[in-house]
Amino acid sequence: MVVKIVVTGRGGSGKSTFTALTTRCLGEMGYGHLLVVDIDPDGSLADMLGIDLEAEGKKTISEILYDVLEKRLFTKMVGATASEKLEPFLFEDALYEGDSYFDFVSVGVKWSEGCYCVPDRALSEVMERWAENYDAVIIDSPAGVEHLNRRITKSVDDVFNILDPSKKSFDNAYRSYRLMKELDIEFKNYYIVGGYRFPAELEAMAEKQPFPYLGRVEYDDLVYQYNLEGKPLLELPEDSSAYISVRGILRRAGYGPRPPPLSELLGVDGDEG
Ligand SMILES: Nc1ncnc2c1ncn2[C@@H]1O[C@H](COP(=O)(O)OP(=O)(O)OP(=O)(O)O)[C@@H](O)[C@H]1O
Ligand SMILES: [Mg+2]
Repeated sequence: MVVKIVVTGRGGSGKSTFTALTTRCLGEMGYGHLLVVDIDPDGSLADMLGIDLEAEGKKTISEILYDVLEKRLFTKMVGATASEKLEPFLFEDALYEGDSYFDFVSVGVKWSEGCYCVPDRALSEVMERWAENYDAVIIDSPAGVEHLNRRITKSVDDVFNILDPSKKSFDNAYRSYRLMKELDIEFKNYYIVGGYRFPAELEAMAEKQPFPYLGRVEYDDLVYQYNLEGKPLLELPEDSSAYISVRGILRRAGYGPRPPPLSELLGVDGDEG
């Protein structure tokens, strides 16, 4: 069964850093094949994961949807649903297939004009289908709650709302929780997490909220430096305080080392098989 995670919260609270470190952590815990989805138009997640989409010849999903609509490729293909028509284009031009444990896709900018309900729905269907090919899907969101209206995913296991030290940040947690309910986006757990700027003094307040509080991401000079230089966070040393704190947070949410798949234990399909 695929595990789906959404990381959300206010601008600059540390969502993308948390997403990148979560990717690495689930990889190390043996979660298998992961799909990382960036739905932030200004996303820096690819850099954090060491991916140069342009150099890889990949586009964002929105760019592809735009091409498809512009060239009216949708209407030329008879007898298929919108998502079936879209899928081959997205698979070919948007999905970055990594060599190691994760693939990556960037959703890109939402158009400003016209009604795009059809492509948005198609996108959500494609995402649901793709998710089935992975062991876990990790989604990084833009700041705010508006992105939820696109309903790129209909069901999620765990939502992590990353807090900064402000009332607005707590308000954001409530608003996105309510909006997900209103939009019928299913989720099993809604967690709050202190971002790297969240001080220990505010933890007591976080613990009083109606959402489980999982702890704080430690401030880490190396994370700051790597992000500044565009160095992948996957290369942070094992003892990075930020990484260790993210691992602790995930463990409190019930994530832990997974046994290798049976085929690997039996040596089937592997190097020694
Ligand atoms: N644990 C950390 N230690 C030190 N600096 C951090 C840490 N986490 C994030 N930062 C820094 O904070 C800034 C914002 O981080 P990040 O991009 O992860 O936030 P975000 O919530 O995704 O932002 P946005 O809303 O713009 O997408 C970056 O410059 C990053 O280097
Ligand atoms: Mg971000």
